[in-house]
This record gives sequence, C-alpha cells and structure tokens, in this order.
Amino acid sequence: MTFHIGLIGGGNITETHARAARALPGVEISAIHGTNAEKIARLCREHGGTPYQDFQAFLQHRPMDLVIIGSPSGVHSTQGIAAARRGLHVLTEKPIEISTARADDLIEATRQSKVQLGVIFQDRIKPHIRQLKNWVDQGLLGRLLFVDARVKWYRPPEYYANSRWRGTLALDGGGALINQGVHTVDLLLWLLGDVVRVQARTATELHKIEAEDTAVAILEFASGALGLFQATTAAYPGYPRRVELSGSEGTVILEHDRIIAANLRNTPHAAASAALDENESASSAVVSDFRGHQTVLEDFLQAIEHHRAPACDGPEGRRSIALVESIYRAAKTADRTAAV
Ligand SMILES: NC(=O)c1ccc[n+]([C@@H]2O[C@H](COP(=O)([O-])OP(=O)(O)OC[C@H]3O[C@@H](n4cnc5c(N)ncnc54)[C@H](O)[C@@H]3O)[C@@H](O)[C@H]2O)c1
Repeated sequence: MTFHIGLIGGGNITETHARAARALPGVEISAIHGTNAEKIARLCREHGGTPYQDFQAFLQHRPMDLVIIGSPSGVHSTQGIAAARRGLHVLTEKPIEISTARADDLIEATRQSKVQLGVIFQDRIKPHIRQLKNWVDQGLLGRLLFVDARVKWYRPPEYYANSRWRGTLALDGGGALINQGVHTVDLLLWLLGDVVRVQARTATELHKIEAEDTAVAILEFASGALGLFQATTAAYPGYPRRVELSGSEGTVILEHDRIIAANLRNTPHAAASAALDENESASSAVVSDFRGHQTVLEDFLQAIEHHRAPACDGPEGRRSIALVESIYRAAKTADRTAAV
C-alpha cells in the first residue's frame, strides 16, 4: 500500500515533513501547497510532488490520502476542515490551533468526515520521555508532588521580524507560550494529568512583538500536584528545556529529551538507549533531525491503516491549548488566577 501525502505550508517545518515522509517506505509526496511560490517549487523539485499556490486546486489533487499541515498556527483548523471534507486524513503541526473553539471545529469536522486527526507533539514518542511516562504509569515515582518546567529558549530578532505570522495574535495566537512552550505544556499534561487552576504572568521583555516573549505560571493539577512553569524566547543564547518531576518515591530530571537524573527509591530499569534527537530547539526553529517527525508520521499512517487512534489525536492535542488559554486568561485578570 502506498500513502500519498499532500504537504501544506511550504516553510521551515514543511522541509522537515518532506524529509520525514521520504524516509518512510510506501510514502509518496503528491502535492505541496503554500503561499510562497518559490519555496513550494523548490520543495517539489527536491522532494517530489506538484506545487500549488491555489488551495482549492491542491485539495482536488489525486491521488492524495492525507495532508500534513505546517502552515501558520492560526490557519490549521480552516485548512484541516477543508481537507477533512474532501475525505483526507489530517496530521497537523502543534499547536492544534490558537483557540479551543477552533480546535473543537476541527475535531468535529474530522469526526463527521470519519477521517483521522493527529497533532504533531513529537516529544510523546521520544525514547526517554516514553520511558519516564512508563515509570510514572507504573508508579515508580509514587504519588506525584511537584514539577518544575523551564523552557528558557532564545530566538533572534529576525525570527520575528522576517515573519508575517510569528508573535502575532491573529496567526500565532500568542508568543513564547503557545508556540515554543506548548510542547512542554503538552508533556506536563500527559505526565501529570489535568490542571484545574493557574496563576500566571506574561510579559514582552525583549522582542518587538505584540504577543508575550515570556510567561510564568503556577499550575495546580487535579491530582493535587503543583507545578512551576516558565517559557521564554528571550533567554540568550537559549538553554535545553528542563523538567524536574518529584514524586513521593523520588525525582527524575529531563533535559531537552534526555533523562539526566533518575533518583528513585526503587531503581528503575536503565533509560532507553535509543538515539536521542540532535535538534537545537533552544536556539532555533529548524528541525534538522527529522526522526521525531518521522516516527509521528509512521504512527499516524499505522493509525489510518489499523483504524486506531494516533499517538496524539485531536482531543489530546486540544488539552495543551485549553491550558494555554487559561494561562493567558489568568495573566489578564486582577488576581492573575483562572480555572481551567
Ligand atoms: N513540531 C515542531 O517542533 C515544530 C517546529 C517548528 C514549527 N512548528 C509549527 O509549524 C507551523 C509552521 O511553522 P514554520 O516554522 O514552518 O513557519 P514558516 O514561516 O517557516 O512556514 C510557514 C509557511 O506557511 C506559508 N503560509 C503562510 N500563510 C499560509 C496559508 N494561509 N496557507 C498556506 N501556507 C501559508 C508561508 O509562506 C510559510 O512558508 C506552526 O504551526 C509551528 O508551530 C512545529
């Protein structure tokens, strides 16, 4: 069986999608849509497929079984809904959208059209992070008490200045929290479960953008665990994301996608030795090591083939946006607090 894929976007992350798709057997890129004619023409020359600037014409291209959406975050639902109505499965980049209302529309459209919806949160399939999730689920950390998560990244001024959508409320939905921090927001929800209340502050400290470049939040999980969360794109030169998770049976520390300490009362099996990614996410948006995306795509294709849910489906992908929305809401209220 061959899967025919249509790519949407044509920028930085579509390059990663194209390389990930080509690395998989039984996958062909059939068409690429984007607003920048030069970029999509180059991608098609290098990776195959027909370039389309016209979105409707792109959607009619056949054969095509699924689309991977790598356009600005604020158009994910419009494009995903249109694709679903044409019977195409939808794998979209994080965040699923810039609001829960739009995420709900996309989830509903894919449900009605009976097509799969997946959200690319590649952390969920990284070997050490899966290992940590297994330890949590097996109770090796005991009762989860506290998590401290820091995304102290840096993006140069050009990252925003040369983009029509990054750091804008209309198309990015915010700044460092919804774009960079959302990977870690998803991770915390996946590991610790739902958050019921947040206290938060956001600020635009360094960059000339309308959204925040820095966000800090106190998280109260439904389980009773507490969390401290920080996300910024203003911390030159950028440091690996760090998550320190303590339970009644000990502490595990994650740096980027690696477990760097596992101090537990009951010694767990050694962390998975599989290769870890080599991306420079702390200082760049480029995802040159595409293995994470490749595994997400492989899982999504299997989900289509076997009629099962993908690693992160629509409702799962929505959770991080619900929390991000609450953090933004809390930051705007007088007492800086919001229920989730
Ligand atoms: N999973 C990850 O690690 C990861 C990393 C980077 C980006 N992303 C996500 O990928 C998406 C794109 O980010 P990027 O870094 O590739 O941005 P980018 O600016 O490099 O690329 C976006 C492309 O979309 C095109 N575009 C603009 N408006 C469009 C429209 N209406 N329809 C179709 N194409 C349009 C632009 O021409 C541009 O080439 C964002 O949602 C971002 O959050 C995910």
